[in-house]
Amino acid sequence: MKRALPTVALTRSRVPPPGGRDASAYFRVFDGYAEAGDHETMVEIMHRAKDEGLGALSVHELRIEHFRTQRAQRHGGGPYGPDDVYDRHMGAIRAEIRERLTALGPTIGVWSGDITRLEVDAIVTAANRSLSGGGGVDGAIHRAAGPALLEACLQLPEVSPGVRCPVGEARITPGFRLGTEHVIHAVGPVWDGGTGDERCLLASAYRESLVLAVGVGAQSVAVPAISTGAFGFPVTEAARIAVDTARAFQRERKGPERIVLVAFDDETEQSLREALGPDRLV
Ligand code: APR
Repeated sequence: MKRALPTVALTRSRVPPPGGRDASAYFRVFDGYAEAGDHETMVEIMHRAKDEGLGALSVHELRIEHFRTQRAQRHGGGPYGPDDVYDRHMGAIRAEIRERLTALGPTIGVWSGDITRLEVDAIVTAANRSLSGGGGVDGAIHRAAGPALLEACLQLPEVSPGVRCPVGEARITPGFRLGTEHVIHAVGPVWDGGTGDERCLLASAYRESLVLAVGVGAQSVAVPAISTGAFGFPVTEAARIAVDTARAFQRERKGPERIVLVAFDDETEQSLREALGPDRLV
């Protein structure tokens, strides 16, 4: 199955260790660096990279420099001429990015797209209380995982008639054909005007999912915008809750190392990025 790591432009994802199974995939996504279209900035960054050395650049700028150089070289207009000079330069940039991200510790990122494409240790789904499958992100995950996922869900014990997972809680199963080791089934609240306990329950659904992820040793976890689809939770507020809860959890528990908040539409992506703030560009 074709998979991709989060677009580097949008995340503060930890660079996988050299030779790790996703290292090449990570660097391939530089191709998708759509944000790097600002020619003037790129030229300026390049001059700084040359004049002052890579150490003078932020991680974000290093990523732009990496992308820009790669592009230019590929199209024959590269500034580094012979392959070995080019390889040395790119190797130095990658090493620098890796070192600085490692020093940063746990990170949270935003990625836009189909969550089933992500190569992570655990994927969270927005389920219903019976864990009997549904539409939206849950439908996509069940389709990608195959029928064994539903069977595993239905084997989980009911806590009350028809309820395998109360609102604000989460359950865990294998990922089956999804290729991801774990699927975490989180049940968010249905939005009821905000007069009930919706906000606390949404935060709880995120927190409980992360508790399960850490419990099985997952280092990378992808989480969709729980409750913001069929359950009608306002996106801006839900995004803030997602970011705040993930951030607080990571600080307190020192993990998981990489939380990827996944958007499936522009409004959600925008809201998540705003909630994450300038942090997303290191
Ligand atoms: N990848 C990532 N995100 C997705 C995907 C996907 N493939 N498909 C949908 N989404 C997004 C939606 O755009 C929305 O932002 O997931 C978010 C949550 O939407 P829903 O899946 O509708 O989840 P929720 O609002 O929590 O409602 C849960 O819907 O499918 C049923 O069984 C589920 O009854 C439960 C209810």
